[in-house]
Amino acid sequence: MKAITVEPKKPGTAKYMDIPEPNQGEGSILVEAVAVGVCGTDVEIVEGKYGWAPHGQQYLVLGHESLGRVVDPGPTGGFKKGDLVVGIVRRPDPVPCPNCAVGEWDMCSNGLYTERGIKEIHGYMSERWRIEPEYAIKVDPSMGILGVLLEPATVLAKALEQIVFIGRRSYWEPKTILVTGAGPIGLLGALFAKMSGLEVHVLDRAETGAKPDLVRELGATYHSGSVLDIGFHPDTIIECTGVGQVIAESIQQIGANGILCLAGIGHGGANRSASVADMAAAAVLRNIVIFGSVNANKRHWYKAGQWLARADRAWLSKLITRIEKPENFMSALNRKPDDIKVVIQFSDI
Ligand code: BGC
Repeated sequence: MKAITVEPKKPGTAKYMDIPEPNQGEGSILVEAVAVGVCGTDVEIVEGKYGWAPHGQQYLVLGHESLGRVVDPGPTGGFKKGDLVVGIVRRPDPVPCPNCAVGEWDMCSNGLYTERGIKEIHGYMSERWRIEPEYAIKVDPSMGILGVLLEPATVLAKALEQIVFIGRRSYWEPKTILVTGAGPIGLLGALFAKMSGLEVHVLDRAETGAKPDLVRELGATYHSGSVLDIGFHPDTIIECTGVGQVIAESIQQIGANGILCLAGIGHGGANRSASVADMAAAAVLRNIVIFGSVNANKRHWYKAGQWLARADRAWLSKLITRIEKPENFMSALNRKPDDIKVVIQFSDI
């Protein structure tokens, strides 16, 4: 069968090539790939900056934002032929650490977790893949290709849950939220925050195009420019750009007792606006919590599925701005200015 593979840490090695059919050991459910979303992590892996092949193998099958159709449900119940499913990304570490032992693999504390398409287990960018029933999530068939948005949505379900947990440290009635970055993660965050009843603001560099339109269609307020110019002090910020300057400005602009969730992953860059000590002082004097959030456990997969099912389908479908064929995977990985979510489609829905 065909798959999109890469030799991790070696730039320029991504290929659309023939590989053996998935191994029985990878799970009792056999799935035909329908679509796989592309995200910044995939781009990093292809650029040779991230990713690990399975032990003893040279290549890694890419792809962690899956959507597939069950071909063979295997011996254990719960699934039938034709079901639409999405595969969970992370697997608990084998020790296991206390977090993985209780199913909170997203909080793995020894770093020995594995991730499909990212860390030591093959991903979902192959014509067929296998999965264990406990890591397969059924998707409402009426969602169609929008089911591919479930994985990025889980990242937000976790971030928002953590914000609620952290908020319990004091009397806290959040009303406003700022989301920085209007990519798929930011826009899904804005959607879920809106569905939770918050006054939502989104900030991005783009001044025109689909991003401001989508934000306004949600009934949220769009800002471009500096966080320092938004004109209010948000109770909560979900930072999805990973850009040092935006993070520093978010710490300065957030309201007293605010919670700043770092959900974007960036690298390097010079911070011209404040020193670390100045930022820490701003956090100390106003009781600010700054925390990072990655991945998601089954609780978040369930919650994200519920939110997506209740969301406006017409709005959600505008998040998928480009669909590419597997053989054109390099074009899918090359970000264009108007891209929000680019999807590689393997078979008809
Ligand atoms: C994925 C997460 C994963 C993280 C780090 C993200 O792109 O959505 O599931 O934990 O990368 O590998």
